[in-house]
Amino acid sequence: MAGSSDLDRGSAALVVQRLTKIYGDGTKALDELSLRVPAGSFFGLLGPNGAGKTTLIGATAGLVRAPTERIFVFGHDAALDLESRLLVGVAPQEVHLDRFLAARELLAYHGRYFGMPKLEAEQRADELLEVFDLTAKAKTKPNRLSGGMRRRLLIARALVHRPRLVILDEPTAGVDLELRHELWRYLRRLHTEQGVTVLLTTHYIEEAEALCERVAFIRAGRIISEGAPTELVDRYGGERLEDAYVEAMRQ
Ligand SMILES: Nc1ncnc2c1ncn2[C@@H]1O[C@H](COP(=O)(O)OP(=O)(O)OP(=O)(O)O)[C@@H](O)[C@H]1O
Ligand SMILES: [Mg+2]
Repeated sequence: MAGSSDLDRGSAALVVQRLTKIYGDGTKALDELSLRVPAGSFFGLLGPNGAGKTTLIGATAGLVRAPTERIFVFGHDAALDLESRLLVGVAPQEVHLDRFLAARELLAYHGRYFGMPKLEAEQRADELLEVFDLTAKAKTKPNRLSGGMRRRLLIARALVHRPRLVILDEPTAGVDLELRHELWRYLRRLHTEQGVTVLLTTHYIEEAEALCERVAFIRAGRIISEGAPTELVDRYGGERLEDAYVEAMRQ
């Protein structure tokens, strides 16, 4: 496994090599899954319920146990190397926010957790509240925010420590149309202006088509196809990415 695969790891934000994940109850969530997310790309992971998307994200972020030598974040082994934790920011699929911390405290606390000095963490919290239009809710606890506001806070939290790889697990699920387009604009800006690598999952295929330079289809714990949306359309036929997706899942 030396040589070219090592070179590949260096220029990739994320490399996954034949990763299998079997949960304690025997469920095989990932089945020798391999994936490469180029550094600086906007990448979409698309697949049906239960395909293994959240498991893969969890393993990358150290939330789900995974073996060594299988996941590399900017060349760092995600199962061994704490540096990889600092490089990744995750907005999880399920909204779990500490109900005792108000929005600003929650963001600043997260920054402190990742080693930022107090003042810097607070400044960063204010900056992100502004960006996500939550300044008026700075002192509000998550249980008093609307669903869409909680979703925005979750994304803001993923960004506090300025990760180079931002992973968003269904960031726009349950988010209204206006806010969805606002989030799209923000994610595009983050990607183009700051060179951040974005990996997102979504069940809105048109969202992936609008945002992602590359897309991978995942089914039953395996990547079944990967490429630019236009390449996938060429490969599977149809007019839109959705057609290609439906066809890929049918085969
Ligand atoms: N903690 C767990 N223990 C046992 N099985 C699990 C656990 N978490 C997930 N699974 C199983 O692993 C498989 C993959 O689940 P996962 O959450 O990764 O799918 P997903 O692609 O994110 O789906 P969705 O689109 O519904 O979010 C499913 O069969 C699921 O039931
Ligand atoms: Mg999921």
